[in-house]
Amino acid sequence: MKRVVLLGPPGAGKGTQAKKISEKYDVLHISTGDIFRANVKEGTPLGLKAKEYMDKGELVPDELVCDLVEDRLTWDDCKNGYLLDGFPRTVFQAEHFDRFIEKRGHELDLVLDIEVPNEVILPRMAGRRVCRGCGASYHVVTHPPKVEGVCDLCGGEVYQRADDAEETVLNRLKVYADQTSPLIEYYTKTGKNAVVDGDRPVEEVFETICALLGE
Ligand code: AP5
Ligand code: MG
Repeated sequence: MKRVVLLGPPGAGKGTQAKKISEKYDVLHISTGDIFRANVKEGTPLGLKAKEYMDKGELVPDELVCDLVEDRLTWDDCKNGYLLDGFPRTVFQAEHFDRFIEKRGHELDLVLDIEVPNEVILPRMAGRRVCRGCGASYHVVTHPPKVEGVCDLCGGEVYQRADDAEETVLNRLKVYADQTSPLIEYYTKTGKNAVVDGDRPVEEVFETICALLGE
């Protein structure tokens, strides 16, 4: 695998699966949400701007996102491919990304569309906890860290994301339906979209993804 996009609503398990894919296939995981959260934490100008939108569950404006991703994808560590988690998220971003890879003579291999019904997402988000260091996802009931508040993978602090409050999650789901779900049709037309049922145990979802990615 070289260039793969993970699509799916908030709480679908994009971050969870991305960690596993990136480990097994030794591919770089780039999460725009994680990049924004790191900027918010450091109080950078980008972080201050992004926070206004993230706290409401709105999307950060396309121009900000596209510039950020375009810059990130030109780093040396992206030469051999990457796994994008949370980008593109609008048709504008997808078109921008298409032009970016085309200019470089590259190709997008696969879009993994992880689908989970809204009624399953809400309890997932209510119990979700995230590592501030490496972005690993946990859940207070179904997948707690071995030591409370400490990441199993990197020892970082495990906390609750500000945008996981129920009202904000509901808005994020609406924003997904309005602005991101049109991408499913966009990528289906290219023949690169594969739908993955995300409402199954993590390992089962991962097996399906590995079968699609090949060895
Ligand atoms: P982002 O960080 O990308 O959030 P998101 O897309 O809303 O998705 P999440 O990270 O909430 O969910 P996930 O699918 O990664 O699920 P996870 O694996 O954690 O974006 C945040 C914000 O940043 C956006 O709202 C926006 O403001 C901004 N932003 C980012 N990118 C942008 C862009 N391109 N354009 C504009 N704005 C952008 O799992 C969730 C929970 O479920 C966990 O507790 C996990 O343990 C559990 N779980 C996972 N899989 C399973 C399973 N199979 N069964 C049971 N439980 C499971
Ligand atoms: Mg995530």
